[in-house]
Amino acid sequence: MNDEKQPIGVVGVGWVGLVTATCFAELGHRVIALDIDEEKVAALRRGEVTIHEPGLAELVASNSERLEFTTSMEDTLAGARLLFCCVDTPPTYSGDADLSRVRAVVQQLPQDSQHALVMKSTVPSGTGAAIRRDKPDLAYVSCPEFLREGTAVDDFLHPDRVVIGAGEGSEWAADAVEDLYRPLGGEIVRTDVASAEMIKLASNAFLATKISFINEIANVCESTGADVMEVARGMGLDQRIGPSFLRAGVGYGGSCFPKDVSALKQLAGNTGYHFQLLNAVIEVNELQKRRVIAKLERHLGSLVGKRIALLGLAFKPDTDDMREATSLVLSARLQGEGAVVTAYDPVAEGTATTLLPTVEMASSAAEALDGADAGVVVTEWQEFAELDWPALRERMATPLIVDGRNFLDAPTLRDAGFTYEGIGRPVTA
Ligand code: UGA
Repeated sequence: MNDEKQPIGVVGVGWVGLVTATCFAELGHRVIALDIDEEKVAALRRGEVTIHEPGLAELVASNSERLEFTTSMEDTLAGARLLFCCVDTPPTYSGDADLSRVRAVVQQLPQDSQHALVMKSTVPSGTGAAIRRDKPDLAYVSCPEFLREGTAVDDFLHPDRVVIGAGEGSEWAADAVEDLYRPLGGEIVRTDVASAEMIKLASNAFLATKISFINEIANVCESTGADVMEVARGMGLDQRIGPSFLRAGVGYGGSCFPKDVSALKQLAGNTGYHFQLLNAVIEVNELQKRRVIAKLERHLGSLVGKRIALLGLAFKPDTDDMREATSLVLSARLQGEGAVVTAYDPVAEGTATTLLPTVEMASSAAEALDGADAGVVVTEWQEFAELDWPALRERMATPLIVDGRNFLDAPTLRDAGFTYEGIGRPVTA
């Protein structure tokens, strides 16, 4: 029952909301995108996109005629029946998801059957049911998002699957959401609201589990002489396992995995279930972020006064997002050990200057490595693979590279005269 002429409402124009609004506009729909942040709305009206997401700014510009940004819920409700809720649900101190922004949106919605709230924000199972108790007439659909930062536009336009959980009496809205996504070609999973909510949390928790699993295998490889890259390759060819998310490294970060794994653990705990496996996933990840310290000490002895250059600060490449980034833990630990920390990131410098005031920011990898006793690859930015390593060797005080993402080509580094150590791989020198 999707009315092509009916605009789509998007509430919350953060990273998920802006990608969602812009991609629906790209598909030819008119979109009214609402945010309470007046400055952000004003900037977007001027065509300024402050989020670093490849391809997004271009799409916002090319779809400006179909994209309307507003701070008025009244206007949004007057124009759109489907309201995609994309506000954030950050973790609270207890590890539960903070639903205050979702509640603030729900409070403003009318008690009518003309509108539908389509939940994209990641919420614990049971949230949909609670909202419907408050607003029984409002149609409710759970449509969790599976976008990855850095590839969000492509992920939106080419989804593996689209999960649509319909509340009771909300089939019209679920049908409308299905109409919107069907042209994208992904498998449509129609289900109930509680299951849709759980699919999202369980998917992220499973991927995080895969990462912590391969990181533990990597740690064991270090004492057996095996190479985790070979192990992951051999494992990944088994179709039941699959090759993705088996890259060992210095742990996962970002705004999603740490939050969602902890939210699922808390959700289980709140109902009296002790989710043992997730406790281990979290702990392995925390320890993994620190393993670089011992590696550096093995080569350099005490780190007091040593210059350590961090290459990459964002939680992964192609984003400036540093939420829960390994670089935060690592730089604090290094400074705690008395090291002098320099750092370079191709796009996260602005964010980093605020978050890491005691770290010396360099304007290039070469500048960060100048006079350094070791370089540590924390984020696998492509440009690090293309550096002139033989020239860099001359600039460093000690030719030592610890590759926290197993990203650089070990033989190239060895031939350039470096001692090279990855995660879960034999050291080359
Ligand atoms: C993740 C999920 O992949 C998305 O499907 C989901 O929609 C999103 O969370 C969300 O809930 O919003 P994202 O956080 O953008 O996406 O990033 P990923 O590409 O999944 O990477 C997360 C972290 O895991 C990064 O720090 C990355 O370096 C690390 N990682 C990933 C590994 O250490 N090893 C791997 O093999 C893969």
